Amino acid sequence: MNNCIIYGGGGFIGSHLCEELLKRNYNVTIFDKINFAKDNIKNFKDKIKVIEGDFNNEYDLLSSLDGIDYVYHLVSSTLPASSNDNPVYDVESNLISTLRLLQDVVKRKIKKVIFVSSGGTVYGIPKAIPIPEDHSRQPICSYGITKKTIEDYLYMFSYLYNLDYTVFRLANPYGERQNPLYAQGVIPVFLKKILLKEEIVIWGDGSVRRDYIYIKDAIMPLVNSLEHKSEYKVFNLGSGEGYSVNELLEMIKKVTNMDAKVKYVAGRKLDVPVSVLDISLLKKEMNYAPKIEIEKGIEITYNYLKEVLL
Ligand SMILES: NC(=O)c1ccc[n+]([C@@H]2O[C@H](COP(=O)([O-])OP(=O)(O)OC[C@H]3O[C@@H](n4cnc5c(N)ncnc54)[C@H](O)[C@@H]3O)[C@@H](O)[C@H]2O)c1
Repeated sequence: MNNCIIYGGGGFIGSHLCEELLKRNYNVTIFDKINFAKDNIKNFKDKIKVIEGDFNNEYDLLSSLDGIDYVYHLVSSTLPASSNDNPVYDVESNLISTLRLLQDVVKRKIKKVIFVSSGGTVYGIPKAIPIPEDHSRQPICSYGITKKTIEDYLYMFSYLYNLDYTVFRLANPYGERQNPLYAQGVIPVFLKKILLKEEIVIWGDGSVRRDYIYIKDAIMPLVNSLEHKSEYKVFNLGSGEGYSVNELLEMIKKVTNMDAKVKYVAGRKLDVPVSVLDISLLKKEMNYAPKIEIEKGIEITYNYLKEVLL
């Protein structure tokens, strides 16, 4: 049987994952909030089962695992910045609810759990670039602490109860369907501002470097990991290349052939100065090979946003 459920499947990453799983003939159920962005699934909604509910409500979760073989956990109620505004809410809504799910997963002998963690926050301020998976983990935002703790519980459940799992420490995915109104996702946010001739605000001097990965490249290992057997449970997932915010802006101006109004404001303490992931383990173990170069990815995202916004 090949029945998958994606918690948070109506979101940016979840909807792309869903499409790829369908292409590979998996049966897909998504679990998402009642008011999730239905447009994300409009092209394939007839091919999937949709459960609308609240991940934090144990009664909504109750029967969602019936008949399921594989679980993807992509729900997050916070972003790195918002998580620090209310760490109690962050822990309650992400960690406690995940533990409830994992206990049920163990009881039902689910074949595998795939968890999307955060390559940009679990390590904290990196001591080495690119960052390998065995780098120390010392997050400087609650979001990163919650992700790290979920990783640790997955290890505990696997050690104690033989739960099989894979963690992906994802860098900065971008592409179609990423919401340009969120604070996460600098590429669609900048593109939207350029398109609508709004001012772009950059925290700090624009030297912060990040690892950006086009969404369709990012979801391949998520799918491949379902049936992949490995002694390794934790993988970095990014492009392995780093670009500063200023470099990114220049690329965006070149691709769009438009100028930008830019305002630099004080940097945020929670932003690590650099985060570029070492992706050699994923390349070796799963033949991972991202295909889309950043300028091409920006162009695809730009063309998509032009259609949606104009
Ligand atoms: N986008 C990124 O830059 C990035 C980077 C690293 C890790 N991640 C992680 O990947 C996962 C997916 O991210 P995304 O970018 O697709 O985000 P997204 O916001 O587009 O998708 C998350 C989905 O979860 C749903 N959700 C949130 N709270 C819920 C609840 N209480 N009950 C039911 N559904 C709920 C939302 O409605 C949404 O559809 C998250 O766990 C995120 O932390 C994202």
